[in-house]
Amino acid sequence: MLVFGGTGDLALHKLLPALYYLHRDGRLHADMRILALARRAHSREAYQALAERHCRAQVARADFDNDTWHAFAARLDYFAMDASQSADFGRLGKRLGTNDERVRVYYLATAPDLFEDIASHLKIAGLAGPHARIVLEKPIGHSLQSACAINAAIGAVFDEARVFRIDHYLGKETVQNLMALRFANALFEPIWRAAHIDHVQISVCETIGVENRGAYYDNAGAMRDMVQNHLLQLLCLVAMEAPVRFDAESVRNEKLKILEALKPITGLDVRDKTVRGQYAAGKIGGQEVPAYYFEKNVDNDSDTETFVAVQAEIENWRWAGVPFYLRTGKRLSKKTSEILIQFKPVPHQLFGPGEANRLLIRLQPEECISLQLMAKNPGKGMHLEPVELDLNLAHAFRKKRRWDAYERLLLDVIDGDSTLFMRRDEVEAAWQWVDPILQGWQSYYESPRTYPAGSSGPEQAGLLLERAGRKWME
Ligand code: BG6
Repeated sequence: MLVFGGTGDLALHKLLPALYYLHRDGRLHADMRILALARRAHSREAYQALAERHCRAQVARADFDNDTWHAFAARLDYFAMDASQSADFGRLGKRLGTNDERVRVYYLATAPDLFEDIASHLKIAGLAGPHARIVLEKPIGHSLQSACAINAAIGAVFDEARVFRIDHYLGKETVQNLMALRFANALFEPIWRAAHIDHVQISVCETIGVENRGAYYDNAGAMRDMVQNHLLQLLCLVAMEAPVRFDAESVRNEKLKILEALKPITGLDVRDKTVRGQYAAGKIGGQEVPAYYFEKNVDNDSDTETFVAVQAEIENWRWAGVPFYLRTGKRLSKKTSEILIQFKPVPHQLFGPGEANRLLIRLQPEECISLQLMAKNPGKGMHLEPVELDLNLAHAFRKKRRWDAYERLLLDVIDGDSTLFMRRDEVEAAWQWVDPILQGWQSYYESPRTYPAGSSGPEQAGLLLERAGRKWME
């Protein structure tokens, strides 16, 4: 496995710790080698020391031991090169040798503007043989046009079966459990439709700011960083029809149909159905934090959004008229990723006003699926209250360590299974829906709404639901 961007945050914080765990659990082939690539000059030992520091910080203390680390580090090497320079790929080729029989995974943990160069340089250097696979990190491009250009350039070198567009949300255990819940239980299917569901909320709220990714983030913003990929993928899994088989093509065909059925948000709808925000100074966990535009490598008068709320609609038979409210933001009061399915109230309220059923699927911080039902409060009289029927997944499977999303996805790449990766047409369909919203924001010359760090986002996000008599689940 060759990791471009080997000294970056993603490689050090996510990929190497995930590979360490896979190694520790005996899931990597004995001959597997990991070569980190980046511009900086590092000796092999210096890189291993850097990797160790990060792995120690990311891996649970009880799971890290020196012997395992040394055995893992023996797989790990470093090669300094400039991925934009074709000549450096010649040097890389010499370093790798000519053994083309082995599966070779190129993991592009770099900015998307390097993807096209890397793919073509790999081809010219003769490094993209039939056993080579390429992994692309999201976001793929900056717009539909740039995504198409990247996809075309990658497609000219690697056929689609060897392209793995990663969205780590698809590797999260509860996200896959959502498919199990829907397609392995008969209970929900009959009511999983507009006739019984009032609306759906998908919230991915974070407390962190942009950390040391200011340069990337200021160019991307929450729409490209989160909505175009993670939130739309979650929406697809909630809304898609049951695939014929659980394989890459069947699952992705169904997701694509949902993306294509998303009602375009254009013109004045951009104002009515979307809210973008940017955090001002505030407090997170009692600590003062600066406003977004004071973050490192962020423009002082940046109008990049760090919060987005959107009211999406899916124009098909199952979902016509059901709003899907999407919300994501940085520097919010709590870190949670949740999907809420709000059912409609009973047609006749026998016991007086009561709350309608809701199903909560929580991905983070703890994984759980919980169904809110109305039950009688013990004692005289029919006093009803909402109670939770909980499926606590961490508890139900407590003997098993919870895998990080990257562990599963890296193993899938090695196995050549692309079920949990985004296909080219999916990525482009997602951009097709996102682009007009981004363009609308530009053409209105309206700055993002500010919200204090540590709050639940700009108040306009609340109004998006309140005007329809609904509210965000807090
Ligand atoms: C990444 C985004 O894809 O997902 C980050 O680039 C974000 O900005 C992260 O913080 C959130 O992932 P998770 O797994 O912590 O919810």
